[in-house]
Amino acid sequence: AFSTPADASSYLAQYIVKRINDFGPTPQKPFVLGLPTGSSPEGVYARLIEANRKGLVTFQNVVTFNMDEYLGLAPSNDQSYHYFMYNKFFNHIDIPRQNIHILNGLAKDVDEECRRYEAAIKSYGRIHLFMGGLGPEGHLAFNEAGSTRDSRTRRVSLVESTIKANSRFFDNDLSKVPKHALSVGISTILDNSDEIAIIVMGANKAFALEKTVHGTKNDARFPSSYLQDHPNVLIVSDLEAAGV
Ligand code: GLP
Repeated sequence: AFSTPADASSYLAQYIVKRINDFGPTPQKPFVLGLPTGSSPEGVYARLIEANRKGLVTFQNVVTFNMDEYLGLAPSNDQSYHYFMYNKFFNHIDIPRQNIHILNGLAKDVDEECRRYEAAIKSYGRIHLFMGGLGPEGHLAFNEAGSTRDSRTRRVSLVESTIKANSRFFDNDLSKVPKHALSVGISTILDNSDEIAIIVMGANKAFALEKTVHGTKNDARFPSSYLQDHPNVLIVSDLEAAGV
C-alpha cells in the first residue's frame, strides 16, 4: 500500500514497464497484457503514456485484451469502455491498432462474440500480465456476485450496486446505465494469466480489498476472493483502500 494514489500508480506503471522490457517482446512473441477501465487505473495509464513518450518503453509488440464492455454502447459513445481506452491510453501510445482487443458491445451474436474473444486470447497462449481493478462489492471485471470459478467470457447482468456506482458517469441517472455487459470470466483471468496486478484506490474499496485478501477463498459472493486461487497476484493500493 502506498500513501497516495499517485505513488501507487507510479509504482504499478514502472512495474509494467519493467515486465515488458525484461520480456523483450518481438512481433513473433508479443507481450500480452490484460487491461481494465475505471478511475483507479487512470493514473497508471497516464504514467505509461509518459514512459512511452520518453522512450522508456514501446508498445509496438504488446497485445492487449480488455476485461469488459457495456452491452449496447457503440465505441463512439463516450461512456463505452472502447472510448475510455482509446481516449485515456491507446490514442497516446505507439501500439498498433490490430494489437488491441476489446469486446464488441454491439455484437449481433453475443455468444459468438464471447467465443471469438476466448479464442483470440487462446491464440496467444498466455496473458503475461493481467491488470485489473475491483468493484466496491468485490467484483472483478464485470464478474458480479454469483460468478463461478469456471466462468468464461459471457454476457452478464449488472447488480444494483454496480449500476449505482457507475451512474456517476451517466449524469447520476440510473436509467441511463446499461444493465448488461460482456465480461471475461473468472477462469479466463485466473487460468490464462501468468501474473495478475490489481490496482485499487479509495476508502469505498476497503471492504472489497479486505474480502479479496482475508475473506474466505473462492467465495462466489465476493468474486475477487477467487484471486486467492492464483499463485502470482500483486495488489497495489493507496492507504485508504488498504483500510489504514
Ligand atoms: C467497473 C469495471 C471494473 C472496474 C470497476 C472499478 O465496474 N467493470 O472492471 O474494476 O469499475 O472502477 P473504479 O476504479 O472506477 O472504481
